[in-house]
Amino acid sequence: MQREIGQQFSVRYSFPVLFTRDAFAPENLTLRDVLRSAGAKQHRVLLALDSNVAAATPGLAALLAAYAEAHAETFFWSGTPFIVRGGEICKNDPVEVHALHQLVVEQKIDRQSFILAIGGGAMLDAIGYAAATAHRGVRLIRMPTTVLGQNDAGIGVKNSVNAFGRKNFLGTFAPPFAVVNDAKFLDTLSPRDKRAGIAEAIKIATIKDAPFLTWMHRERKSLAVFAPAAMEEMIVRCAQRHIEHVGSADPFETGSARPLDFGHWSAHCLEEMTSADASGALRHGEAVAIGCALDSLYAFAKGLITQAELSLLFETLEGIGFTLFHEALLKMNIEEALASFREHLGGEMCITLPDGLGRKRELHEIDLPLMHRCIAQLAERSARPPSRDANPTGVERATG
Ligand SMILES: NC(=O)c1ccc[n+]([C@@H]2O[C@H](COP(=O)([O-])OP(=O)(O)OC[C@H]3O[C@@H](n4cnc5c(N)ncnc54)[C@H](O)[C@@H]3O)[C@@H](O)[C@H]2O)c1
Ligand SMILES: [Zn+2]
Repeated sequence: MQREIGQQFSVRYSFPVLFTRDAFAPENLTLRDVLRSAGAKQHRVLLALDSNVAAATPGLAALLAAYAEAHAETFFWSGTPFIVRGGEICKNDPVEVHALHQLVVEQKIDRQSFILAIGGGAMLDAIGYAAATAHRGVRLIRMPTTVLGQNDAGIGVKNSVNAFGRKNFLGTFAPPFAVVNDAKFLDTLSPRDKRAGIAEAIKIATIKDAPFLTWMHRERKSLAVFAPAAMEEMIVRCAQRHIEHVGSADPFETGSARPLDFGHWSAHCLEEMTSADASGALRHGEAVAIGCALDSLYAFAKGLITQAELSLLFETLEGIGFTLFHEALLKMNIEEALASFREHLGGEMCITLPDGLGRKRELHEIDLPLMHRCIAQLAERSARPPSRDANPTGVERATG
């Protein structure tokens, strides 16, 4: 005989994503008010800081200390930030997560306290994972310091570290308490890192928001030189689209589709293929730009987008400064790359393509000879001087 007691409950999540500049100027109350929203009392804060952000902004720790002092009725911290090695290294080495757990114990951080993480997407992932697992979840405030962090990686509900040779293998779905995006942090980023983050905006605009893509096309010259007003607008609009997605669809990804992963199947492979080459390694966003160009050519060949739509997309990508080809594409095993992406999705093969601009279609099968032809087209056009005629893509519709 079988006995069953059913259980069901729902939990409502909400968190603010705030945009400001100069968050640690004593008169800037954004961060103070985030803490206050958890009660008008003194809150204990453990502060974790990306090593490269600390190095790029001398005096940041002193600035933080002055801010905490100016708002001492709300903000209590030990006075020494935990410096986390910035970049992928902190996701690869368990030392960082372990050290944060140890500090949670030493600094008496409990579930009513806060961890404030300031850094790039990688560091936020590692600290987010440490925060989510200490005491089964300490409240986390993220301050992303890269373009990709502010418009994509830092504003969602996921965190992770790499383990057993797998990227993002250990992790949790854990909504942050708040996200505070400070535009000033972007000033110290390298041009490559600034540009790479813009690829995610082009990605999401292409499949979800045609007016946003048209705006980026119009503003491509300003975005190419990272003009602050254009960058701010791009980040806010991109973040908005990502936030809507998390809030509306499948935040904890129980299904197998990853509908925002346009351009990502080949991007993941290109990143991996080039990762060992210190000077030629592609940034995630650089690989995504190539992946979006490739999948757009495929969508064009399949009749999902028109020549004019393809041209707009290529002009936007290249106008902002992306290179739409890498030698590694020619060596890529498409079948293996697709299989590995399917595994990453955790089930059925699902490739997201534009279906017109601003809409998407999911394909469950890829025509391999046609995809090869699209790669060959990208290679051919990269070897030619830029086309000045009515067809800036320089390609005709490919057939299999
Ligand atoms: N959790 C998610 O939903 C999600 C989504 C997308 C990507 N990610 C993850 O994000 C990571 C990539 O993030 P990223 O693109 O921000 O790269 P990153 O964190 O590796 O940062 C790039 C480099 O810039 C440094 N840096 C960061 N901010 C700086 C600043 N203001 N000035 C100078 N240097 C600075 C970093 O230390 C690092 O060396 C990957 O690990 C990826 O898996 C997570
Ligand atoms: Zn991405």
